[in-house]
Amino acid sequence: MRALVMTGPSHGPDLTEVGDIPVPEPGEGEVSVDVSHAGVNFIDVMARRGDPGYVTAWPFVPGKEVAGTVRRVGPGVSGLVPGQRVAAFTPSGGLAEVAVAPAALAVPLPDDVPSRLAAAAPLMLTSALLLLTDAARLGAGENVLVHSASGGVGSAVARLAPALGGGRLVGTVGRPDKVEAARSAGYDTVIVRGEGAEAAIRDAVPGGVDVVLDPLGVELLELDLEVASPGGRIVLFGNAGGGEVPPLPPHPRLMRGNVGIVGFSVSALTATAPHRVARGLRRVLDLIAEGRLDVPVTEVGSLDGVPDVHQLLAGGRGAGKYVVRV
Ligand SMILES: NC(=O)c1ccc[n+]([C@@H]2O[C@H](COP(=O)([O-])OP(=O)(O)OC[C@H]3O[C@@H](n4cnc5c(N)ncnc54)[C@H](OP(=O)(O)O)[C@@H]3O)[C@@H](O)[C@H]2O)c1
Repeated sequence: MRALVMTGPSHGPDLTEVGDIPVPEPGEGEVSVDVSHAGVNFIDVMARRGDPGYVTAWPFVPGKEVAGTVRRVGPGVSGLVPGQRVAAFTPSGGLAEVAVAPAALAVPLPDDVPSRLAAAAPLMLTSALLLLTDAARLGAGENVLVHSASGGVGSAVARLAPALGGGRLVGTVGRPDKVEAARSAGYDTVIVRGEGAEAAIRDAVPGGVDVVLDPLGVELLELDLEVASPGGRIVLFGNAGGGEVPPLPPHPRLMRGNVGIVGFSVSALTATAPHRVARGLRRVLDLIAEGRLDVPVTEVGSLDGVPDVHQLLAGGRGAGKYVVRV
């Protein structure tokens, strides 16, 4: 079968190729899926760079989320049958014609949810939902600050927060040419990071920020702490720049601000509490089916186009969400 294969760590597309590899078979508690569409994510780039913890062994087939039809079910699986349409969270290997997923993380698709949108649901939309609900405990009318607002997760948060009753949405982006994309995703205020960003955030939400969603390691943590309202929650959920992450501030800093810092990793949650990830995935699929959630996605025509998208993401030049038709 065709699959996107990374043969070693690299900052460019030079060690990524579409190769022919054996079709994977599902083990105990797993299903294999004939992939119709797969999500492309920044986490693939982190794997490509060789960031610690993202690749088990080279060669490596990346890909964390797929939509397609169940091909085979492994021993001990009930409730899923071959031919059934599903969206599934794949530990890796999603960017391939056939992918294997834990059955607990494969959710049947409502008829009216198209595969191209369903492929963005397991990692991107479910992460955005769980960031706002499980991690940040977003309350009615609370305002939200999101860094990297124009990207995949950033644009998904902008679509979901209003559906969850959230208030004002403020986004930051790394470059001026991303402001428009973040605005059209739904942010009320978009700020280019750099000098003056803190003042601009304070102007946008004078009472302070209730929820900060921060995928940038701890690069911006001091800013987050400064703008957070008493009772605010800062969710750390990535390390886009890579490299060593310095320690968190001493606890008196948190006491002084009456703020909380929360960590979130959907991948870790798939191991520790898979039912919560599956419940989140079901909920976003239902919101789509009910017409209450729509996220624009850019469809890449085949696996051959994915290395170029990875390179766009690696350079911080992606716009919104990309899925590939497999
Ligand atoms: N913890 C979790 O469970 C979880 C789940 C999904 C995604 N994530 C994380 O959430 C973030 C967004 O994911 P995504 O797939 O939607 O990606 P994305 O936002 O579409 O693209 C990544 C963005 O990161 C920013 N960035 C900052 N430093 C960068 C660097 N050194 N190189 C490249 N980009 C850099 C850029 O935006 P700006 O320049 O505008 O900041 C870039 O557009 C990623 O960091 C990802 O790892 C975490």
